[in-house]
Amino acid sequence: MGDVLKILFLSSEVMPYAKTGGLADVAGSLPGALRKLGVDVIVGLPFYRAVRENGVSVKKVVPDLGVPLNGQHLACDVLQTNTKDGGSVFFIDRQEFYDRPHLYGTEHGDYPDNLKRFSYFNRAALLFAREAGFQFDVVHCNDWQTGLAPAFLRTGYAADPFFSKAASVFTIHNMGYQGLFPSQRLPESGLPISAFHPSGVEYWGNISLLKAGIQYSDVVTTVSPTYSREIQTPEFGMGMEGILKNRAESLYGILNGADYTEWNPAKDKHLSAHYSLRAPKGKEKCKAALVRELDLDEELISRPLFAVISRLAAQKGFDLLLQVLEDVVGFNAGVVILAAGEVEHEKHLHALAAKHPSRIAVRIGFDEPLAHRMMAGADMILIPSRYEPCGLTQIYALRYGTVPIVRATGGLDDTIRQFNPETGRGTGFKFGPFEPRAFLEQIGRAVETFNDKDAWKKIKKNGMKADFSWEESAQKYVSLYRKIAGGRP
Ligand code: ADP
Ligand code: GLC
Repeated sequence: MGDVLKILFLSSEVMPYAKTGGLADVAGSLPGALRKLGVDVIVGLPFYRAVRENGVSVKKVVPDLGVPLNGQHLACDVLQTNTKDGGSVFFIDRQEFYDRPHLYGTEHGDYPDNLKRFSYFNRAALLFAREAGFQFDVVHCNDWQTGLAPAFLRTGYAADPFFSKAASVFTIHNMGYQGLFPSQRLPESGLPISAFHPSGVEYWGNISLLKAGIQYSDVVTTVSPTYSREIQTPEFGMGMEGILKNRAESLYGILNGADYTEWNPAKDKHLSAHYSLRAPKGKEKCKAALVRELDLDEELISRPLFAVISRLAAQKGFDLLLQVLEDVVGFNAGVVILAAGEVEHEKHLHALAAKHPSRIAVRIGFDEPLAHRMMAGADMILIPSRYEPCGLTQIYALRYGTVPIVRATGGLDDTIRQFNPETGRGTGFKFGPFEPRAFLEQIGRAVETFNDKDAWKKIKKNGMKADFSWEESAQKYVSLYRKIAGGRP
């Protein structure tokens, strides 16, 4: 290892190029924080249609890179762009795999060739590093889509001198997505048959790419300290608790940071008015603008306004949310919901909005600018997650003076402090049991606090002052990289 750490950072989504959730935010901002600490990091992702249509200016750095997979020779181009902070991002361009309307699948389900698509991405990324002479100390992988890179380094490429010193970090952003495929498709992954065993990628008779990442990496991390403990239990481990317990000595919980250049109400390009801790007035304008934009009753401008900004998935507790929404409206309050994902919840949300058209607004779809306007315009954000590895919306909400009401799980529990009206300390409201009564009790407390002008000012201020920038967490990643670089821990 030289003095400067070299990191190959792989993710299936990266802001501002392609995003479905918080993984993109992390992959878009952690590398910049690492660079500030003197790390040489390059980031890789597939060249999806969305990236091309975004109009990112790219140059072809390697044409026709030969990538062998499953007895075939499937070439790709490698494209490259520079980030605002002078970093480098590369894209694996093979249209057959990535020139599609979505990242992972359509409303009818996952793309059937995802195993091949992501095996290919991992292999091409490693081969690109070799071709470019980027002798990385550590490949930092994220979620199941990049679980194979650590496995390739320990199997097929173990004898390749270029990779002989390369270590790997695997970060789990979500145990709920395990990258499962039938065992007979193993050849498509490019792994040798010898990898199909319980200490390798075999998982109850299937292949799991999440398990590949966990088993073959030098260290495993996840995105909050609480989630790192939770996933070692049956309730949160989703069947992999035993595997994770076995790796407990190399398992670390490192809290995500926020990108305050993207999420800052004083400069946010999506807002019609700006505000900050010292000059808070603009928030009222953002609220009035949001109420009007979503065609809600103007009376709500002076009443509590709740937001939900979320992937539409069981993880996020939409079933619980649906059970309390009418009670929330009963506080003479409004609710604005922006959600995209599993379609079955949509009709229930639309039905409630149809019943209370002046109080509940529902927008289905992925809308980054609206997410920002809601973050600024709402008074509170509801996050009743069943589980939450880290969660970023509560962290952004704090900076926007929008008070989080969250379930005390994973990163939500680590980032939000219960407000105490006596001491004036705390940043939000938390409930434990996944049930409507517990959720509503905290919503009630939040409304009570809202009605007490001084207390409300206090809680907002506490949140806006909280600092979740990347520095400290990036430093923790650097320590881990140093620990494993050049050899195994
Ligand atoms: P997760 O990664 O589980 O979806 P996070 O809270 O970590 O949850 O990150 C969610 C990210 O996606 C945030 O940046 C949030 O603003 C954004 N987001 C979620 N749903 C939508 C949506 N429907 N439209 C726009 N942005 C969304
Ligand atoms: C995942 C998790 C979320 C986390 C994000 C980024 O999608 O669901 O809790 O904040 O990844 O790590």
